[in-house]
Amino acid sequence: MAETFEAVILGAGAAGMMCAAHAAARGARVLVVDHARAPGEKIRISGGGRCNFTNLNTTPDRFLSANPHFAKSALGRYRPEDFLALVERHGIAWREKTLGQLFCDGSAKQIVAMMVAEMAAAGAELRLGVSVEALERGADGWWLRLSDGAALAARRLVVATGGKSIPKMGATGFGYDVARRFGLKLTETRPALVPLTFTGPALEAFAGLAGVAAQATVACGRTAFDEALLFTHRGLSGPAILQISSYWREGEPITVGLLPNALPALKARRAAGGGVGVAAALAERLPRRLAAFLAEGFDAPLAATSDARLAELAARLGAWPLRPTGSEGWRTAEVTLGGVDTAGLDAATLEARAVPGLHFIGEVVDVTGWLGGYNFQWAWASGWAAGAAI
Ligand code: FDA
Repeated sequence: MAETFEAVILGAGAAGMMCAAHAAARGARVLVVDHARAPGEKIRISGGGRCNFTNLNTTPDRFLSANPHFAKSALGRYRPEDFLALVERHGIAWREKTLGQLFCDGSAKQIVAMMVAEMAAAGAELRLGVSVEALERGADGWWLRLSDGAALAARRLVVATGGKSIPKMGATGFGYDVARRFGLKLTETRPALVPLTFTGPALEAFAGLAGVAAQATVACGRTAFDEALLFTHRGLSGPAILQISSYWREGEPITVGLLPNALPALKARRAAGGGVGVAAALAERLPRRLAAFLAEGFDAPLAATSDARLAELAARLGAWPLRPTGSEGWRTAEVTLGGVDTAGLDAATLEARAVPGLHFIGEVVDVTGWLGGYNFQWAWASGWAAGAAI
């Protein structure tokens, strides 16, 4: 005899746990199934172990999707303030870092424990260390067989199995396979929020700069982010680079602005005299190794540097053109860009239009947030929206 549920939710990550807690609180009998031994593993490692659990500046324009309007409904109904209220109800200390980003003061494990407690209090069941061996759709719902032999029947199936990033943590293409099997379209998936890599002379230059960090405006096309940048042995990382990686495509250049509009300041420094060299002048505002690198070819003292040469230097400081060769890929990407095409989903319920009773939530959907707590906010909001429809 199959155990019967209103909904079976596949994946005990941020989206799946929120969906289960909300649906169960509304009276539905729900089961969450995860092949991992522990729930919320990505929550646990997120934000350097402190989980950047939401962003106060959440607006739909901070999400990438083939349909930029799709996320509005869910994001509008479950807001950062709602999640923050939950965090406070559980007595979890938090703080706002930069740019509206909210982190735990203590440990990300507190967010995992909070979601597990919310599910338990609402009566949602959680089964870990089991995978789906068979999945069929019948006239009145879904039938599943799990790896522990359990047979399940459910009116609704919610796919919350996440994206492809960090395969060694259990990421699979399972959600995409389910989508394909039931006729949903997928948009191209690629690693996002990921360091960019270089080869050739650019990489040789970076080798000497590895470990240097600076504030920078990094641009690709018409998109730019003003955040920290980090030189690595393989290329560039840091928040500004992770952000732009979601917009960059192979073959395209990026520009790195380390000191925008520097010409007036350079001229003023030259007028102040003192026989200072160009590298030393730049080191007054940039890390020393980076200043020396940027001043290469400017060997005369600042006082002897012409207006034309200063303009050349200012251009280099304002928009240093670089051409990444690739990214570090799924191994380190924080999220997956692309996924289940939103054209096939109802924005209010995350239900497949052509397959009633099948929902997709969280990262598996083609909605990808900026760095800074936006991806968890999408997971909570889409999970809540689907939970409200169960
Ligand atoms: P998630 O990946 O969390 O959960 C999916 C679940 O499904 C997993 O538990 C997995 O085991 C399970 N699963 C997969 N395949 C399965 C199968 N075949 N059968 C059964 N179960 C299966 N975001 C943010 O907003 N703030 C932050 O601070 C960070 N930090 C961060 C750090 C790092 C290192 C990474 C990799 C990512 C982040 N993120 C982040 C992104 C964030 O972690 C991500 O957007 C959410 O975890 C997505 O939540 P989901 O619930 O959709 O998937």
